[in-house]
Amino acid sequence: MRIAILGAGNVGGTLGRRWAEAGHDVKFGVRRTDAGAAAVKGGQGLPSRANVVAPAEAVRDANVVVLATPWGAVGDALREAGADAGALDGRPLLDATNPLKAGFALDVGAGGESGAERVQALVPNAHVVKAFNTTGAENLRDPSYGGQPTVMFYAGNDIGAKRVAHELASTLGFDPVDAGVLSRARELEHLAALWIALANGATGAPALGRNFAFRLVRR
Ligand SMILES: NC(=O)c1ccc[n+]([C@@H]2O[C@H](COP(=O)([O-])OP(=O)(O)OC[C@H]3O[C@@H](n4cnc5c(N)ncnc54)[C@H](OP(=O)(O)O)[C@@H]3O)[C@@H](O)[C@H]2O)c1
Repeated sequence: MRIAILGAGNVGGTLGRRWAEAGHDVKFGVRRTDAGAAAVKGGQGLPSRANVVAPAEAVRDANVVVLATPWGAVGDALREAGADAGALDGRPLLDATNPLKAGFALDVGAGGESGAERVQALVPNAHVVKAFNTTGAENLRDPSYGGQPTVMFYAGNDIGAKRVAHELASTLGFDPVDAGVLSRARELEHLAALWIALANGATGAPALGRNFAFRLVRR
């Protein structure tokens, strides 16, 4: 697959590196291409199948685009990638962001909308799927605990785009689970908020730190 990553930080950098290591062609769309590989977090050097280019070039021939910027940068990042000119139309857009305010509080839309639904409103012709937002970047690097995969929920309206999310989560070693239509991103973003609160000890209970993950068990 040809994968464009917008936001090459802890999340985008880690996801892109791992997919490139697994044989996908990855283009990191970064604002300062002169900083090159140094702009891509999550490891040293770049896998041979990964490149650093400008955002518009990254998405040009991508089969799938991954959004992994801070919430406040989403509009700019999509614009720089050419969204206003239709660059994302018809493509799967995997939204890994969490709409966080100061203190890790969730920024919920006026009508209860998730961030993903607001991303979809910005790019109405892209196929937005919420994915990769419900666990920490360390777990994106290694989703296995005791040899068992942890869960990766995804939610979206387009079956084909959800298939892409499923395959890419599976490639990383997650147990991918379809959480339904895009509005279920509301629950996925709250699940992310719970993960963050547990990690930080913002629940009032002792902090769990960042080395824990959710698993789905079935009978
Ligand atoms: N960290 C986690 O464990 C985690 C887990 C799940 C989801 N998330 C969510 O994933 C998103 C990214 O988190 P992160 O921890 O990876 O953040 P991060 O390490 O700070 O990386 C953010 C990336 O976005 C880029 N960026 C910022 N503004 C931009 C713009 N206007 N246009 C293009 N790129 C821009 C930054 O590039 P520059 O270097 O040029 O500033 C940087 O590469 C957030 O929404 C976060 O809530 C985080």
